Amino acid sequence: MYCVRKVTDDLYWVGGNDHRLALFENIHPIPRGVSYNAYLLLDEKTVLFDTVDWSIGRQFIENVETLLAGRPLDYLVVNHMEPDHGASIEEIILRYPEVKIISTEKAFLFMRQFGFTVDGHIEQVAEGDTRCFGKHTVTFIAAPMVHWPEAMVTFDTTNGVLFSADAFGSFGALDGKLFNDEVNFDRDWIDDARRYYTNIVGKYGPHVQSLLKKAGGILDQIKMICPLHGPVWRSGLGYFLDKYDKWSRYEPEEQGVMIAYASMYGNTEAAAALLASKLCERGMTNVVMYDVSSTHVSQLISETFRLSHVVLASVTYNLGIYPPMHSYLMDMKALNLQKRTFAIIENGSWACRSGALMREFVEGMRDMEVLDEKVSLASAMNENNAPDMDTLVDGILESMRKPQ
Ligand code: FEO
Repeated sequence: MYCVRKVTDDLYWVGGNDHRLALFENIHPIPRGVSYNAYLLLDEKTVLFDTVDWSIGRQFIENVETLLAGRPLDYLVVNHMEPDHGASIEEIILRYPEVKIISTEKAFLFMRQFGFTVDGHIEQVAEGDTRCFGKHTVTFIAAPMVHWPEAMVTFDTTNGVLFSADAFGSFGALDGKLFNDEVNFDRDWIDDARRYYTNIVGKYGPHVQSLLKKAGGILDQIKMICPLHGPVWRSGLGYFLDKYDKWSRYEPEEQGVMIAYASMYGNTEAAAALLASKLCERGMTNVVMYDVSSTHVSQLISETFRLSHVVLASVTYNLGIYPPMHSYLMDMKALNLQKRTFAIIENGSWACRSGALMREFVEGMRDMEVLDEKVSLASAMNENNAPDMDTLVDGILESMRKPQ
């Protein structure tokens, strides 16, 4: 049975949800599922904006066929051809052999690399090109590295709809609720949206900034944002634009402390808990604690983007950094995270090395500050460490008072 939603006048959502996929990109957990959005415009010409992952291919085809009601499909605009969106391109060609595919040069290159037979259907476009489909005229805007190099976004100048590709997307299945005003985004969606952005696109902040600047030039004309994942935005666009601006400039959303701890027998965790208590006692209650062994690294990364201060509390392991903590730091570096203040709690029953190694790692990243104050444990926290812990709390609170 087909399942579509009207977006506006002659534009329809024809995507679907996947609740069975455990790991997006086979790496990021998606307990709330994910949506693959595609949109169909019924103008004088019929135009499909992107396709979907093959996992929901049958639903998607049924949606498209039902709305077309026997009309041919004239155009397929491919804003982003990564297989979670491009996997159904060939099926569309097979069912609509006259279809023209509108996309970028690099996208066609990638389509061929993935083995798609697109020759004879190609209509290559570049930044600033336009197409008129009848009532609707669209313009194409290059969006390289948001999130792959071939990506573009398409702006419908007739109704102000921006087809934004991966930008402004989110993990999470829609389950019937298509628009941002049909959900409580700030309560139910923002954590998944942040985890999606920071882990999928986070590395490419300068490219997102470049796209935001282009969008800024037409901001007064953008009425709706239709991303390839998650809710469609038709109100309060400024809320999400502001989040994207902060994330892509690597600015924290909030002053607060994330304590990421690596503990083998609970002693480093106990020190982390003591630090959290002391911070709260001094009035800094925006504190979260995560065990790096049991928290997925995508969640650690997301929270590191959210907060201004990070305390790394780690045991020494094989004379190095505890492996899950090391993996978290490696991911942080790979995603180009910047502009955070760190503090360190180290532990080692002999040859304690984790503090020096974590400091060296973080100082090797861009615009990161590591506070001089630190706590060094020999197996477990004791009265001798208490003054250092208090000094560490002072140092964190003092650095929060500095102008950012
Ligand atoms: Fe949702 Fe970059 O693909």
